[in-house]
Amino acid sequence: MNSRNKSLIYAAIVGLIIVAIFLGFLSSITNPISWLLIVVLALTPVLYEKVNKTNEIQWKEEYSVGIESLDNDHKKLISLLNHFTTAYDYAMSEEFEREALNDLINYTKYHFDREEKLLEQHDYPNLVAHKAQHKQMIKQVERFMDLYNEKGHEALNEISEFLANWLINHINGTDKEYSELLSQRGAK
Ligand SMILES: [Fe+2]
Ligand SMILES: [Fe+2]
Repeated sequence: MNSRNKSLIYAAIVGLIIVAIFLGFLSSITNPISWLLIVVLALTPVLYEKVNKTNEIQWKEEYSVGIESLDNDHKKLISLLNHFTTAYDYAMSEEFEREALNDLINYTKYHFDREEKLLEQHDYPNLVAHKAQHKQMIKQVERFMDLYNEKGHEALNEISEFLANWLINHINGTDKEYSELLSQRGAK
């Protein structure tokens, strides 16, 4: 069930509890059921949060590649990824979903370019292999964009999962391989 449906069910339950409390108090202000339902109502936000855990990714210090400009790019990518996941998860308008996806893809391309230039500047020995991974990812994303244009919202589940897995694995794996060398060579 997506988050939008969960929110609607939550709103309906809260509405029903409020009506039941009101009706209980109409019969008597000391109606124990109404007082019990007030307690239940107070607890619903906590229960809702537990049920509706989002797929949001949090930046962790262990993701750091030790170069401030690239860490900032990676943080921005995670934030754009979360923005896109929310747009998808809440099945927001097609325009909103497309904009969030485009923002994420455009920033990914911008970041790859910047990262590759920095690696080049500091004579990173695995540059060719690293660039190849970036290129392959962009190709896959373009295939997904075609799928999205064809299928619309239902294609987004696959896209969202791919982007989340790929970005985190790449940042936390391949990107970290350049950390030590680039830090030693004074990259910022
Ligand atoms: Fe990166
Ligand atoms: Fe990279």
